Amino acid sequence: MPRPFRVPRSRASQTHQAMRDEIIAALEPILFDAYQHSYPLRSQLEAAFAAHAQARYAVAAHSGTVALVIALRAIGIGPGDEVITVGNSDISTTGAISLCGGRPVLCDVLESDYTMDIAAVEAQISERARAILPVDLHGHPANVKALRALADRYQLKIVEDAALASGAMDHGLPAGAFADVAMFSFAPFKPLGSAGNGAMLVTNDEAIHERLRLLVGYGYSPEPVTPAAWQNYVAEGFNVPLDGLQAALLLVKLPRLKEWTDRRRAIAAVLEAGLSDAPVITPRFRPESAPTFRSYAIRSDRQLELHDGLRAAGIETVIHYAPPIYRYDVYAGAFPNRDQLPVTELLASQVVNLPVTPELTDDELVYMIDTIHNLLVSQ
Ligand SMILES: Cc1ncc(COP(=O)(O)O)c(C=O)c1O
Repeated sequence: MPRPFRVPRSRASQTHQAMRDEIIAALEPILFDAYQHSYPLRSQLEAAFAAHAQARYAVAAHSGTVALVIALRAIGIGPGDEVITVGNSDISTTGAISLCGGRPVLCDVLESDYTMDIAAVEAQISERARAILPVDLHGHPANVKALRALADRYQLKIVEDAALASGAMDHGLPAGAFADVAMFSFAPFKPLGSAGNGAMLVTNDEAIHERLRLLVGYGYSPEPVTPAAWQNYVAEGFNVPLDGLQAALLLVKLPRLKEWTDRRRAIAAVLEAGLSDAPVITPRFRPESAPTFRSYAIRSDRQLELHDGLRAAGIETVIHYAPPIYRYDVYAGAFPNRDQLPVTELLASQVVNLPVTPELTDDELVYMIDTIHNLLVSQ
């Protein structure tokens, strides 16, 4: 058995232990009472998340990956359509575009907060552009408010990949507020994690909401059934709603999200101050941006040495979103401008993600900061 990390990147089991009674009370009726319990729970979670995200509608889906496909389908992305996105993300982002028949077009990102460089988007807009897909990487909100004006000028839709950004705010509003559709993932390592897979799509647009709901649920007609049509389908959809057990767990956890996000921000502030005299670069944010810090993504020219040294010291670092998407074998030759994304390239060669969990103790924070100093300064 490998030795457990002294500072692990997830403490979900500890989080769940602290809420044990509430969680068991929520799961029990699904497992031991009538099966139908899980349907209302999913609707309850959708309502609660919509309120949290200040959105009119929310639709719960099986995973962020499939939710992105559904979001793009719901805004009408199909064969030949171009969607502008970034190269430093999960393959789900570009994969969702291709799986709709669309073509991902990459735009560079900012060195400050690692999100889409809004000023670089316009140069990528062609006749075939239909949408823009910014990513709130590491829980840092992309400047979707600024993007909105550009998108409206070119009649493009915005799908925000907020997979990592549950709890983040921007311009005083929850992440996702300026997009046509936003997706939040509930995979276990995300700021609001389930015990399996899950995601939420939010939108303020009634027509998009109807499409999302159809696509999540077989394309089944929402109209009441009649003897003439016991079943009716008005679209070809998937069968990928959020599992009821995950909905029950997330309903218990959602009210704590703000407290956890505040703690994540406090941890990031301590790391920023503690590393100010270390030879690393810490992220910088617009004043309106209030990230959720799924991890704390620092940069160093000694990326691998730092990552390996921290892991050897029991600190579970990860190098996330490197190499950039366009370097995966599946995309060989797919992105003609891959050599014109210098910041994406630089970040991938430098970033090291430090663990951030709400349960991280002050002593562990000091240990992380000291270890980084020892690794980089005293040698
Ligand atoms: C930026 C980003 N987008 C999308 C996804 C896909 O989400 P899921 O794991 O829920 O399918 C991930 C997952 O890690 C992600 O990091």
